[in-house]
Amino acid sequence: MCGIVGYVGPRIATPMLIEGLKRMEYRGYDSAGVALLGDDGVDLRRAKGKIAALESTVATRPIEGTTGIGHTRWATHGAPSEKNAHPQRDCTGTIAVVHNGIIENYTVLRKRLIEAGHVFKSDTDTEVLAHLIEAAFKGNLEEAVTEALNLVEGTYGIAVISSQDPDKIVAARKGSPLLIGLGDGENYVASDVAAILQHTRQVVYLDDGEMAVLTPTTYRVFDLEANDVPKNVNRIDWDLEQIEKGGFEHFMLKEIFEQPQTIENTMRGRLVTEEGFSKLGGLNLTKQEMLDLEHIIITACGTSWHSALIGKLMIEDLARIRVDVEYASEFRYRNPIVDDKSLCVVISQSGETADTLAAMREAKRRGAKTLGLVNVVGSTIAREDDGGIYLHAGPEIGVASTKAFTSQVIALTLLTLKLARLRALSVEKGRAIAQAMEALPAQVQQILENAAAVEAIADRFRDATNFLYLGRGYNFPVALEGALKLKEISYIHAEGYPAAEMKHGPIALIDENMPVVFIAPHDSVFEKVVSNISEVKARGGRVIVITSREEPSLAGKIDFEIRIPETIDMLYPVLAVVPLQLLAYYIAAKRGLNVDQPRNLAKSVTVE
Ligand code: M6R
Repeated sequence: MCGIVGYVGPRIATPMLIEGLKRMEYRGYDSAGVALLGDDGVDLRRAKGKIAALESTVATRPIEGTTGIGHTRWATHGAPSEKNAHPQRDCTGTIAVVHNGIIENYTVLRKRLIEAGHVFKSDTDTEVLAHLIEAAFKGNLEEAVTEALNLVEGTYGIAVISSQDPDKIVAARKGSPLLIGLGDGENYVASDVAAILQHTRQVVYLDDGEMAVLTPTTYRVFDLEANDVPKNVNRIDWDLEQIEKGGFEHFMLKEIFEQPQTIENTMRGRLVTEEGFSKLGGLNLTKQEMLDLEHIIITACGTSWHSALIGKLMIEDLARIRVDVEYASEFRYRNPIVDDKSLCVVISQSGETADTLAAMREAKRRGAKTLGLVNVVGSTIAREDDGGIYLHAGPEIGVASTKAFTSQVIALTLLTLKLARLRALSVEKGRAIAQAMEALPAQVQQILENAAAVEAIADRFRDATNFLYLGRGYNFPVALEGALKLKEISYIHAEGYPAAEMKHGPIALIDENMPVVFIAPHDSVFEKVVSNISEVKARGGRVIVITSREEPSLAGKIDFEIRIPETIDMLYPVLAVVPLQLLAYYIAAKRGLNVDQPRNLAKSVTVE
């Protein structure tokens, strides 16, 4: 999704801005631009498409200045084009704005501004901001921005510069992430720490309703009433190498291969194997509060929603607490039964997904306590929840979520252990689960060592047009996740279904051209799934099975087999999803597609 970067200091800002934009490419975008303060106002360069197009524009028509802002845009209002790319300027060409988010009342504001004589050059909602600031400007940029923002409804993360009040960036946040980077005689603003990590590790996160003014040597944070807000300076420990590809062809493949370490990292210091329980310091729930829990809602989107389905099965099975799983986008707009006896678990890799954040706020408003399972440290959900479990999976750059999913399942298992051991689960059963968890990193490694076998299967199916993914119990959500991975990066139509439900409709799709992936490890429903495999084979389907041991009952019924190690039922998703991630990856890569930035998708969906 959109990215913002800004610099104020003694250096020529252009290379730094372009570099910063490249670091955010993974978020997904369709145009890019930079604006710099020059002698005659604000100079702009913008281009539709990739940052390489912007670079060649800048090479043809160089642009220089020591105060500047840059942006990658993912279109919401107005098609991707040069005129709609950010930065957007006012009528005088002395004010430039970059903006993430949506100005909801822009139609009314635009009409009013046009009536007052302002001339619009783009179709964007953002341009309204530039004209509002122009109308309010009386010599001080932060005052004008404040006045403009008081007229605006919607969400924003913005950075603004003006040649009439130079050597300064004004930033503001409401509903769209923004942070300040502190340098030595220079300062930065960014929507994503990756954009500035090369230059500083000292950052200040802005919260909703806060603004900041940055000069080369100072920064000030205040609210929309101009009251100073004291802020902590945070140190970022992620390395740039962690954000880079590390020798793999794509971020997605690197992230799939990182899973032995990331699974370990999610468990580290939390699993007490002998006692069969987990230590989760950030829950902020007393023992009594956990015992009093009558209802849990888990809300999330996409892949995180799939891990939520697994969490429901675990918690209901072992802790015997009723769990509802809700799409965040649906939850926020209905009238859910949530009160102060409910715990709302919010799952999000990015911690910035607009629908998930809104669902969490809605649950809070209704009295529920909230618990965030989030990967990105310092993200909005992580800061606004009542308690949390960080995933510690490191930066996930590929748009298709992989390592975050396995870490989410691990975090949910830790939570289940905590709740279940307080209630019904014995030490022995808890210990058996903990031991099985400890074995997972090595087992995932074993699966990854067999990646070539998955690649060979991918080669056979690279031209398929449809896929079905079937599983039961804990592996039904894995079927959904396998199908989502394939469709989002390979653009092949894929559906996930409970294996037995297939008879009620999708079986009509099966013929000799239909690849059907069964997630069929040797668990409590294995025999049932074998019957479903027979039903597909009898209709000529091409069967790919993910299973965990040599099984005579499968003989003659399958075309391809991918073997995973054995574990307990509730942990099979962590192992079974890995070959599905690899299958999707290799098919997409063999089709020559942009695996890390699939069309129409953004890594972090910060609009509803
Ligand atoms: O950052 P989040 O976990 O909140 O993101 C939720 C979804 O947007 C995300 O999982 C999406 O479905 C991925 N592209 C899946 O690979």
